[in-house]
Amino acid sequence: MDQASAVELLAPAHRDPAGRRMHPLPVRIMHWINAVTIFIMIGSGWKIYEDDPIFGWLQFADFLTIGRWAQHGLQWHFFGMWILAINGLCYLTYGIVTHRFRRMLFPLSGRDLVHTVNDALHFRLAHEDLSQYNTVQKLLYLGVIMVGILIVVSGLAIWKPIQFDGLVALLGGFQNARLIHFLCMSAIFGFVVIHVTLALLVPQTIVAMLNGGPLVKPAQAVAPRAASSEDELPDPSASP
Ligand code: HEM
Repeated sequence: MDQASAVELLAPAHRDPAGRRMHPLPVRIMHWINAVTIFIMIGSGWKIYEDDPIFGWLQFADFLTIGRWAQHGLQWHFFGMWILAINGLCYLTYGIVTHRFRRMLFPLSGRDLVHTVNDALHFRLAHEDLSQYNTVQKLLYLGVIMVGILIVVSGLAIWKPIQFDGLVALLGGFQNARLIHFLCMSAIFGFVVIHVTLALLVPQTIVAMLNGGPLVKPAQAVAPRAASSEDELPDPSASP
């Protein structure tokens, strides 16, 4: 199948002259599957951690963990692992093939970042146009996607250290791979706290992640295209 047909298959709404939703159905389904799975992975991961803590001073209360004991937590972790890996792979493929990543998460500009952070610090978060992510969002999403890949790779190394001995060596040994896995979890946990707080501050974004959000013009929806400042202008007729 050539690339153009794959894009058509994954995003048939491109043909709709009215444009398509900011968050197409596959993105919404994958996002919410991912959100639930991350909670399973973190809760069960904390249960497994309790059996052999990396840091003596850090323990997780039972009510924060998933699974009655470590082995039970491990079963939950494996269950979530398959969903996370398959769903993540679908999301990455979708984002690349339909050019969603390129359209939604790029370009990144240092100047815009300074402006957005400054606005956020002064509680001036702009959210008139839901269909465009601000630079902080772009960075957060790109960051969590990268960390998501690393957590799966380091998880593979811990799960099958004999079969993936090259990977274990690349990560600096088994204990180091464990530490990397733990640090990735901490980064994702931090992301979720910030992400959910920001989403709650602008609840229309949650509604948009449920119903698809505003329509975006086909010109905005289809990529790649030559950069044109007009292309990036929000559709004045778009409504949430
Ligand atoms: C209950 C938990 C969550 C809520 C309420 C939530 C809410 C949202 C909302 C509202 C958006 C759209 C933001 C916007 O349009 O401005 C979004 C996008 C996104 N969220 Fe979440 N989220 C949750 C959990 C997660 C988790 C656990 C992850 C990953 C670890 C995640 C990763 C992302 C990513 C990467 C996007 C961008 C998707 C794209 O445009 O392709 N979210 N989320």
